[in-house]
Amino acid sequence: MALVDTMLALRGIGKSYGAIHALAGIDLDIAARDVIGICGDNGAGKSTLIRILSGAEQPSEGEISIDGQAIAIASPATALARGIATLYQDLALAPRLSIAQNIFMGAELLRGPPALGLLDHRRMRDAAAALLDRFGLGGLDMNRPVSDLSGGQRQAVALARALRGKARIVIMDEPTAALGVAESAEVLDLIRRLHGEGVTVLLVSHDMEDVMAVTSRVVILKKGRKAGEIETARTTARHLGEMIMSGVVG
Ligand SMILES: Nc1ncnc2c1ncn2[C@@H]1O[C@H](COP(=O)(O)OP(=O)(O)O)[C@@H](O)[C@H]1O
Ligand SMILES: [Mg+2]
Repeated sequence: MALVDTMLALRGIGKSYGAIHALAGIDLDIAARDVIGICGDNGAGKSTLIRILSGAEQPSEGEISIDGQAIAIASPATALARGIATLYQDLALAPRLSIAQNIFMGAELLRGPPALGLLDHRRMRDAAAALLDRFGLGGLDMNRPVSDLSGGQRQAVALARALRGKARIVIMDEPTAALGVAESAEVLDLIRRLHGEGVTVLLVSHDMEDVMAVTSRVVILKKGRKAGEIETARTTARHLGEMIMSGVVG
C-alpha cells in the first residue's frame, strides 16, 4: 500500500538494453519535500533511472505512479506537464543569449495580437527577475548573456527555467561535478532554497559531502539494483562511500 504522502512511486522498474540489465526491480517512494540522494558507482544505473523519470526513455518493466495514479512518462514534455523537471549536466543553456531569453526559450511571452508575434521583452525580463529572485539573483541584469555568469548562477538560470513550468520535482544529475568549491556551495544553496519552497529534489552525485549537506535520505544503487536506502542523519560521507562499494546498506 502506498504511503499517504507519496507523490511519486516506482514499483519494479527495470530497463534492459538487449542483454544488458541497466536497471532491475527498482522500488522507490518519493514524498513531497524530500531531498533524496541517488548514489552508486559508475554503471550502477543512476542515469538510466533519471532518463526514465524525465521521460527520455521508457522502462522495460514496472510501474510509475504520481499522486496514486499509474502513468506513463512518455516524453520529456509529459514529465514537465506532471511537474518533473530534469537538469542535465550541460544545463542546455544558450550561452550567447540573455538570461531572460534562456529562461523563456521555447515559451516566449508575446504582446499585442498573437498573429504579429511581437516579443514582450519587458514582461520576460520582469518575470525572469522574479523567478531568479527566489535564488537571491533577482538583481542581475536580465539582458546579460549567460556566458557572463558563474557556474552556480547558470544552474540558477536553468532552475528558473524549470520552475517557470511549475516543477514539483527537480532532478539534478551531478550538478557540482564541473564546478569549483565556491560554485558548488552556490548550487547546494539553490537546493536548500528549492527544499524551502516545498520542491522535491533528486540529487545524483558522486560527491558524498554534497549528499550529506543537503539530502534527507540516500538511495544506493549497485549494478542496476537498489542496494538499499538510508536516512542521511544515520550515516557519514565515509560510510556512504563504503556502502556504495560494498552494496551493503545499513
Ligand atoms: N543506451 C545504452 N545502451 C546499452 N547499455 C547502456 C545504455 N545506457 C546505459 N547502459 C548500461 O547500463 C548500465 C547503467 O548505466 P548508467 O545508468 O549510465 O549508470 P550510472 O549513471 O550509474 O553510471 C551500465 O552498464 C551501462 O553500460
Ligand atoms: Mg551516469
